[in-house]
Amino acid sequence: MDLLKQRILKEGKIMGNDILQVDSFLNHQIDVDLFNKIGREFYRYFGGEKISKILTIEASGIGIACITAQYFNVPVVFAKKVDTKSLNRNAYESEVYSLTKGKGYKIRVTKDYISPGEKILIIDDFLANGNSVMGLIDIIKAAGAELAGVGIVIEKGFQRGGKMLRGMGIKLYSLVTIDSMESGKISFA
Ligand code: G4P
Repeated sequence: MDLLKQRILKEGKIMGNDILQVDSFLNHQIDVDLFNKIGREFYRYFGGEKISKILTIEASGIGIACITAQYFNVPVVFAKKVDTKSLNRNAYESEVYSLTKGKGYKIRVTKDYISPGEKILIIDDFLANGNSVMGLIDIIKAAGAELAGVGIVIEKGFQRGGKMLRGMGIKLYSLVTIDSMESGKISFA
């Protein structure tokens, strides 16, 4: 998506070596018009599949998932990040380790909201090492549902998540892929 590339080049800030801050339109302030175009593009790509639900993870995935879901006319479920003391037993859960944040946490989806046989599309803002997506896939499998595909707004191609998911045969569609952010310069794939 050229529009998204232009926004990243204009407004993105590189933090450290490998974090792209896009708070002005994606992770803090939300550009709803851009999100609509993102949702429409995910629908163009995945709309041929009989998707019954969109699954994401709090917090930043929720906005994109909701706007995308309007095109599919399906509900959104978001996995909650919980600390180990407050786990609900009637829930599917998975352990996620975030390399970016340097810590692990559990994610949880109440069993009522994913049923066996459902066809689920995962939507998220960033794909880095793929651990959050893997956690969501664990939950889909535990529920006996089917993964239709994974839609990502920004893939960091220099981290291992994209390669890993494609290697598993997963239908992964990233709207933009960043190949490198070295020396303060963003290069797209
Ligand atoms: P992974 O899930 O792909 O393995 O990524 P990782 O653990 O490294 O990242 C964890 C969180 O950090 C995710 O947010 C992910 O979206 C976010 N993240 C990773 N790389 C970047 C980046 O370059 N820029 C920005 N802005 N975010 C990045 P999350 O756990 O879903 O938390 P939240 O921020 O949505 O609350």
